Amino acid sequence: MYKAISKTLAAVIIAIVVIAIVAGVVVYMYYLTPRAPTKLVFVVIGKSVHPYWSVVEAGVKKAGQELGVEAIFWVPTKEDVPAQLSTMDSYIAQKVAGIAIAPSDPGAATPYINKGLQQGIPVITIDTDAPQSNRLVYLGTGNYKAGWLAGLVAWQLAKEKGYIKPGATIKIAMLTGSLTAMNSLERMAGFRDAIMNCSVKDPDIKGNINIVWLGPYNDQEDPVQAYNLALSALQAHPDLTIAFGVYAYDGPAWAKALKAAGFPPGKVILVEFDVTSDNVPPLVEGYAQVTVGQRQYFMGYYGVKLLYNMTKYGVEQALKQFIPGYPNNRIYDTGVDLVSTKHMEFTAPTGEKIVVLSLDEYKALAQKLGIDPSLLGLS
Ligand code: BGC
Repeated sequence: MYKAISKTLAAVIIAIVVIAIVAGVVVYMYYLTPRAPTKLVFVVIGKSVHPYWSVVEAGVKKAGQELGVEAIFWVPTKEDVPAQLSTMDSYIAQKVAGIAIAPSDPGAATPYINKGLQQGIPVITIDTDAPQSNRLVYLGTGNYKAGWLAGLVAWQLAKEKGYIKPGATIKIAMLTGSLTAMNSLERMAGFRDAIMNCSVKDPDIKGNINIVWLGPYNDQEDPVQAYNLALSALQAHPDLTIAFGVYAYDGPAWAKALKAAGFPPGKVILVEFDVTSDNVPPLVEGYAQVTVGQRQYFMGYYGVKLLYNMTKYGVEQALKQFIPGYPNNRIYDTGVDLVSTKHMEFTAPTGEKIVVLSLDEYKALAQKLGIDPSLLGLS
């Protein structure tokens, strides 16, 4: 019996010794193995899958690389407010170091933006704003002004084409991907105001013109839906004068529908938004006359850099350094350029001098700004 007890005792002692050795080795290795410090994580939430957003993503990744942080970029397939917000919520729960969001619905996004901030996460908006929220800053295009410029160019080109004459009727259709996102609403408002202003201020017209507004047709950032809407608009209105593509894929959708419906290039004045691999071919083929090029690369690049600086130097200091006129001003305008196949200059009836860059000029500008032209479909 004693033998049995001493055997069990020996086994227990051996087991304890073995466990102690293993534990010792584990603790030893834990302290001796060099471990990478945990990386800061920044998140950028876009609005849909499109080459436009791939350019934003390239900016996000570049900033992440330069700063040695993890920069995550996420978009839903098409406009999807619940998906955007649940994604944001899960990153808030993960306590990431900063979030930039392009809210498809600013009203719905406001509680999430404010929640992130309450939990100490810096939150900014890019591409499209949510000014009623407490977002720290909006970093993106001045969309009303950009839509206004699109309207001035549309007026000029329609006039050159002979469509704008005293007593004429012109039909204008707008195709967009959102009736809630501010960038869409502001672009359309700017566009409409520019046309209305031109109609009154143009000395050849002085208000003597009948303008028929069609749409806005809402495709919810779905290119197939955009094409179908454009095609049915053209079938219902073969006398369309001006088509406005409010979002990046809307111009190409108009162009594809114009082609399918048998319109010769240039019959309808088409103004697009953005310079991407999707938007350049309609210009080159002559279905689109002008596009409003945004600088979305910087929305991603500066978005991550600004959030990083907030974690490093504090929110106030970072904003003071980056935003001219802060705290009265909380908007950083990334700027736009008008682009066409050829260089154009004109004075609009509103008195503004307008310059439209050729594709080559724009390519050179992109290079100068540090944006790889191949990202923009300009090789
Ligand atoms: C807009 C984005 C939109 C994109 C769609 C751009 O013009 O700024 O908000 O998601 O088009 O492709």
